[in-house]
Amino acid sequence: MTQADPIFRCAIGDDVIEASIVAWDSEVLGAPVAQIDRIEISDNGAFAATLTEFERWRDALGCAFVSCRLPHTRLRESMQLEDRGFRFIEMVFCMELRHLDRLELADSDLQIVAADPADIPELARIAETGFRWDRFHVDPRLGAGFGGRRYARWVTSTLVHQQQRLLKIIKDELTIGFFIYEELPRQTIHWQLIAIAPTHVGQGYGRQYFLALLHHHRDRGFLTIRGIVSANNMPIVNLLSSLNFRVTKPQITLHWIRPGLTIS
Ligand SMILES: CC(C)(COP(=O)(O)OP(=O)(O)OC[C@H]1O[C@@H](n2cnc3c(N)ncnc32)[C@H](O)[C@@H]1OP(=O)(O)O)[C@@H](O)C(=O)NCCC(=O)NCCS
Repeated sequence: MTQADPIFRCAIGDDVIEASIVAWDSEVLGAPVAQIDRIEISDNGAFAATLTEFERWRDALGCAFVSCRLPHTRLRESMQLEDRGFRFIEMVFCMELRHLDRLELADSDLQIVAADPADIPELARIAETGFRWDRFHVDPRLGAGFGGRRYARWVTSTLVHQQQRLLKIIKDELTIGFFIYEELPRQTIHWQLIAIAPTHVGQGYGRQYFLALLHHHRDRGFLTIRGIVSANNMPIVNLLSSLNFRVTKPQITLHWIRPGLTIS
């Protein structure tokens, strides 16, 4: 699937839904996966018609899975979606650290290197086995294989991605984890995917890992670092809070999975 994949838009009065096919997840799943990109509803009761149009589009394409992320206060929208079979999966936080240039940072005993193609199998294996708290692993209707394949493929795709960069975090010869990020305007780093190898989690490497990354990006002139984390992931929320990150923009994620479908 390509950038020209189908998109959906329906606006009736003040009610709007926009959705699109997620090419990436569709390839991993082997069936169309969609996401609702925008949803706004008024209280005039016309929303059912907009949602029915969306369902027609979804079913005509044979979508197996639809996700939707909403600001956590959009309860009217989430309730309507739950009425149509969507299920609440998680809350997420944007974690952001600003003014990197003004921070006192302890040293880290980890080192950072740009990953090269020879590193991909090892880093993809960490991605495949390392995640537990994200929406693909906590949704009880999804087997762990789908999330694992998705994250492994993400690591591999950084080789050809225009914007995303892959760093390897090491302690001498030992691989501790990886960090996938994009550079945004205003000297901002947005991380996309981060993990410490399962054999090294829970041993205090998390703090060293982030200190090394903060030094790395600060040394290159970046001032803000941010990323989205699941509120289920207490280790990362607590770790980042202790490093002075702030929680912003809470959102909720809902999933719809075609009834009767098994995704393993
Ligand atoms: C998230 C991650 C980077 C954290 O690194 P870590 O070295 O394993 O973290 P730690 O075990 O040192 O825990 C970090 C903090 O969370 C706390 N914590 C750990 N487990 C916890 C739990 N179950 N509940 C609440 N707090 C917990 C720890 O007490 C610690 O805080 P402290 O240093 O003040 O004591 C690492 O576990 C990881 O990469 N996991 C797999 C992939 C992943 O989840 N990536 C993040 C996606 S956004």
